[in-house]
Amino acid sequence: MMTERVPTGITGLDGMLEGGFLRSRTILLSGGCGTGKSIFGLQFLVNGIAAGEPGVYVTVDEPPALAREDMLRFGWDLKSLEDSGKLAILDLTGSRIGVASDERYQMNSEGIDLDRFILKMTQTASEIGAKRLVVDSLPALGFHMTDDSQIRNAILRLSFMIRQSGLTAILITETAEQKLGGGQEFSKYGVEEYVSDGVITMHYVPMGNETGRTLHIRKMRGTKHEEDSVPLNITPQGLVVTSPKDAFTV
Ligand SMILES: Nc1ncnc2c1ncn2[C@@H]1O[C@H](COP(=O)(O)OP(=O)(O)OP(=O)(O)O)[C@@H](O)[C@H]1O
Ligand SMILES: [Mg+2]
Repeated sequence: MMTERVPTGITGLDGMLEGGFLRSRTILLSGGCGTGKSIFGLQFLVNGIAAGEPGVYVTVDEPPALAREDMLRFGWDLKSLEDSGKLAILDLTGSRIGVASDERYQMNSEGIDLDRFILKMTQTASEIGAKRLVVDSLPALGFHMTDDSQIRNAILRLSFMIRQSGLTAILITETAEQKLGGGQEFSKYGVEEYVSDGVITMHYVPMGNETGRTLHIRKMRGTKHEEDSVPLNITPQGLVVTSPKDAFTV
């Protein structure tokens, strides 16, 4: 049976994934600060829209206005995609601190209650007929919980609901900088990588040149994928990854 693939459209990446993500699966995208996670998420949505798949971007850290401005650098006019009803940016940046947002899609009340968030997210997705979803980011959601087991439970419920909705989703998470000699961490709460169908990690090791960025497909259920870390570049067209095989062909 042919399984349907959802191309990320990120140059070089789909070829390492048998064509893309499996439809209706949830992928965890993890990395330290400034590794390009938000760019990856928005590139996935912009490319989806170009392929006829509307998308929802949930932003918790970065105000929508800044994302709109920054993505223009890559030629991605989020505003016009929103105006045409193909992209919805759900603004949660003020929700945690009880500050009102004048965005069309937002949650104003203080604190982010998981059930209200899931409801708002699924309503927004169905309003624009979304096929893709990006949550940026899980740790920022916080859910007003301090207890680890409560947070794990919240993530399990969130993943379950996303799976039910049929959306192909990227959940962004943060990891602490890797400690020398220490084991690799993929997630903040130690549960996200198990409930996700795939895990992609991004790294940035400043080395005074452009080769400091790498991407690693750590796990991708149902997929024969590239197993090595591959070089990643942020170009005027967005993220570009280079397969080791490509490096020898011109
Ligand atoms: N136009 C650009 N051209 C090249 N590199 C850029 C450009 N814009 C941003 N970058 C690089 O990408 C980084 C930001 O990418 P992004 O916002 O996706 O990171 P992130 O992993 O989401 O970070 P955070 O953890 O802070 O949310 C910048 O720190 C910079 O190194
Ligand atoms: Mg970010």
